[in-house]
Amino acid sequence: MTGRRVIVTGVPGVGKTTVVTGALKVLEGEGISYRSLNFGTYMFETAQKEGLARDRDEMRRLPGDIQKTLQQSAARAMARESGNILVDTHASVKTPKGFMAGLPEWVLRELMPDTLILVETDEDQILMRRLSDETRTRDMEGSGAIADHQQFNRAIAASYSMLTGCTIKYITNADFLLDRAVEEMAAVLR
Ligand code: AP5
Repeated sequence: MTGRRVIVTGVPGVGKTTVVTGALKVLEGEGISYRSLNFGTYMFETAQKEGLARDRDEMRRLPGDIQKTLQQSAARAMARESGNILVDTHASVKTPKGFMAGLPEWVLRELMPDTLILVETDEDQILMRRLSDETRTRDMEGSGAIADHQQFNRAIAASYSMLTGCTIKYITNADFLLDRAVEEMAAVLR
């Protein structure tokens, strides 16, 4: 893979896809292009083909070894892309058996990011966004559990930096301040 490789992460519903879409639009106007790849979409295409999951929310409840196989094949497929790449994914995935690394060593070896972004905001705002999104089957959890997940993501991101030498950037995507998050992400991607 050539070009810049940026990985964008954040707990479900924090708004990472919304911020990515806004930042890529800003950059497009400046003649800077990134190919945006959604890790969950790559995984789901295989899971669906093999009859393992009916929707993307079902994947995090599959047995761990199956999730790892899906993860590995998604990473391999993405590694074949060239140019500037932005991967929309998760630092960790909450499974019924605990947190699973979203970017274990075998995934990082394929992707070798230059920068990893964590999109974050207050847990109460994330809870409200999940409750208002009827298109997805979100896990029912309180704001304390969401805060724990965000904290775990910061910890595991540090280990990803140790493994790859990538920089780690936190971006806050607060209610009514989407523009600020979009501009901050565009600045990292420029
Ligand atoms: P994925 O598709 O990434 O699902 P997700 O985490 O649920 O992500 P979403 O796209 O739903 O949330 P988002 O944070 O992007 O929020 P959005 O922009 O939509 O992953 C699916 C599955 O794939 C995972 O569950 C997992 O199983 C698997 N997977 C993925 N990567 C993996 C990996 N590496 N390893 C293993 N498994 C992996 O916004 C949400 C809402 O908030 C919207 O309504 C939006 O309008 C609103 N909003 C956004 N910003 C603001 C704001 N500033 N103010 C007010 N509202 C806002």
